[in-house]
Amino acid sequence: MLTVNFKGCDSFIKNEEFQAYIQKAAEAFNTLDKENGAGNDFLGWKHLPSETLAGDLLKQCEDIKTLWAGKKVDLVVVIGIGGSYLGAKSAVEALSHTFEATLHASDAPQIVFAGQNLGEDYLCELMDLMKTRNVACVVISKSGTTTEPAIAFRIIKQYIEQTYGKAEASERIVAVTDKARGALKSLSDQEGYKTFVIPDNVGGRFSVLTPVGILPIVLGGFDMKAILEGALDMEKQLSVCGPENIAMQYAAMRNLLYSEYGKKVEVLINFVPKLMYFAEWWKQLFGESEGKDGKGIFPASCSFTTDLHSMGQFIQDGERIMFETLVGVKNPARSMNIESDEQNLDGLNFLSGKSVDYCNHMAQLGTKLAHIDGGVPQLEVQVDKLDEYHLGQLFYFFEFSCGISAYVLGVNPFNQPGVEAYKKNMFALLEKPGYEQATEEIRKRL
Ligand code: PA5
Repeated sequence: MLTVNFKGCDSFIKNEEFQAYIQKAAEAFNTLDKENGAGNDFLGWKHLPSETLAGDLLKQCEDIKTLWAGKKVDLVVVIGIGGSYLGAKSAVEALSHTFEATLHASDAPQIVFAGQNLGEDYLCELMDLMKTRNVACVVISKSGTTTEPAIAFRIIKQYIEQTYGKAEASERIVAVTDKARGALKSLSDQEGYKTFVIPDNVGGRFSVLTPVGILPIVLGGFDMKAILEGALDMEKQLSVCGPENIAMQYAAMRNLLYSEYGKKVEVLINFVPKLMYFAEWWKQLFGESEGKDGKGIFPASCSFTTDLHSMGQFIQDGERIMFETLVGVKNPARSMNIESDEQNLDGLNFLSGKSVDYCNHMAQLGTKLAHIDGGVPQLEVQVDKLDEYHLGQLFYFFEFSCGISAYVLGVNPFNQPGVEAYKKNMFALLEKPGYEQATEEIRKRL
């Protein structure tokens, strides 16, 4: 079950203000529901859980898994950036054994990522790994033209072709892209790759429940059906407009804190290190959806207790511009107690018989009270445990909340015009054909 709790905001806001923002959230809900708001041709994500569970996409992904298992593939390189990367990466990190890369606790191939940066050393070191392993590749790009994954794919494609031969390479490379347009689609058709389609009406950061997330997650040996079932339960629960709707409540509270109390930064916090990349996914979701037209809550993240020893000082005592949203996990998957020690040299016998999670929980409660005392409102989004089902709930909850929240803020949640500026400059600097004039102009500025 996913629950929300806003008691940590009580001392900062007045209930009538919250009710006024619930009203705004209800209007935003109706815009999302009637599909008559800005960006309404990008609402395909709303019904992905129900539609995908009813279709045969999972089976098609399982077929690739079986094909590659037959070839004894033990390393899958997933190429993509932004929305074509963060959903799968966050799921793999949340659901894997923390030390999977060295422990190999799972029978499934190891999933590694490329194309999410232009680090030369990163790619060289990935190549070192690939040379020791039996490799296949999933290349993901909706536009099919994004530079970072295109560069990584050119290098990895050449390696796979040289290592396994061209015919075999066409069975070891799968593309996830647009149904018709883009260089990746035409290349895939030419090379005979199996392709999966990213629906036109789903933008990158809302695409984790399309083949963009589903294929890598299935290949990594995780229970994608359970993720979709968790998301489906949220899809049903959030489809009803009213003050009980927890996505409306979250959207209302964060907009109230932003607009009326100057809380310009939202820090997504966790006490479970496996959620670090989930926070990265969430940052893209809210950052790209809301940060436009000179508006938006800046999405930041911290992993506690680790970051209490680095960012804790600022959160407690620095400029009072932030609120926190805890993604809490009620129960750990494993248990470990602190045993008594006869000598008690470390003075920790007062914790004898207590679990590590109990200590973590006390740290969580202590942090909450300290930060509230320091002027930081705290919102809580809690799940029972960190498994596929609850991860699916979290994905859908935050997507739906994001749609409502951006409409309350008054921006189009589904475009990202600001991402183009750096690309234009980079193309000019790289002397891409067609950018000759821009190249000349930009050189004068360096
Ligand atoms: O959310 C978005 O739209 C972006 O982050 C894209 O996902 C990212 O730029 C990658 O784009 P593409 O999938 O076209 O390569």
